Amino acid sequence: MPKHIDLNSLSAKLLAWFDRHGRELPWRGPKGAVRDPYRVWLAEIMLQQTTIPHGTPYFLKFVQRWPTVEALAAAKDEEVMAAWAGLGYYARARNLLKCAREVAALGSWPDTAEALRKLPGIGPYTAGAMAAIAFGRRAAAVDGNADRVFARLLALKGDWAAEKRRLHAVVADLVPEQRPGDFAEALMDLGATVCTPSKPNCLICPLSQLCRARAEGTPERYPVKPPKTAKPVRRGVAWVIVHKGQVLLVRRPEKGLLGGMLAVPSSVWFEGDIVDFEDPFEGDWVDCGEVRHVFTHFALRLAVKRANPARRPKLAGDWVPLAEVDGLPTVFAKAFRLATGKES
Ligand code: ADE
Repeated sequence: MPKHIDLNSLSAKLLAWFDRHGRELPWRGPKGAVRDPYRVWLAEIMLQQTTIPHGTPYFLKFVQRWPTVEALAAAKDEEVMAAWAGLGYYARARNLLKCAREVAALGSWPDTAEALRKLPGIGPYTAGAMAAIAFGRRAAAVDGNADRVFARLLALKGDWAAEKRRLHAVVADLVPEQRPGDFAEALMDLGATVCTPSKPNCLICPLSQLCRARAEGTPERYPVKPPKTAKPVRRGVAWVIVHKGQVLLVRRPEKGLLGGMLAVPSSVWFEGDIVDFEDPFEGDWVDCGEVRHVFTHFALRLAVKRANPARRPKLAGDWVPLAEVDGLPTVFAKAFRLATGKES
């Protein structure tokens, strides 16, 4: 790690920039306001794997419906899973509930990164973010945006995984005693609005004088990541069965992908050649086309078939009026829309 950058002046420059240009976001409240740990936690969990434009409506829906951690703790599992539908990573929603229930049982939030880390679903990043942002502790919270900012500042060229570990240690040392939460959010904002992945706007960057990648002339080269490997493709069939204005929905097993979520019936999904899956009953099946969805470890191509049987087939699941279908994870919402033309 290069030593000649004056990293100590970085914090002052960054905080001064944040005072003028930091974003106003619903989980932040007015600048300088005391932060509600529940809202900080909820936002951090929701935003781990999604963008602010996609995540914000979910955040607003959750805090309106469950304004406190106690309210969330008292919610029914299915209601929370349905409200989460579309955010993906459903194990996270189950941990969210577990965590809310533990905190409600404790009577208050732990206020150190170490203690927060012991709660379900809270890893080192979220623990650091909460400790710094909600409790003013001197803790680091380095997200992908902050990674990019430091990869450029220091022009890190080595193996990215190893460089990241080293830079997390550097950032932990740089967190100021005063305003550690603002420091964390300033890095996020700088990465999101100025030091962006493909077109960094160095002309307005408060750190450009310190930045080695800028001095080299091609900051967008950083971080130097290994090429992405293509995801394996899995295939399967989804059956959308409509009878008298109602569609058959099933609940997926608790364990496994999309565990505990509502779904249209579907075959197993697997890699390899297409096989003829047996339809759930004999009938006039219409091929509606294919939906595609990308999961963390594979890409899915789901052939969608629809039937409108005159008699209600005897199948496990619930018959739900078409207009009331809600809480489907995105892949099944896509299949439902393709087969019925309706939004869920
Ligand atoms: N992404 C994750 N947490 C965030 C926060 N607190 N502010 C802005 N973006 C974020």
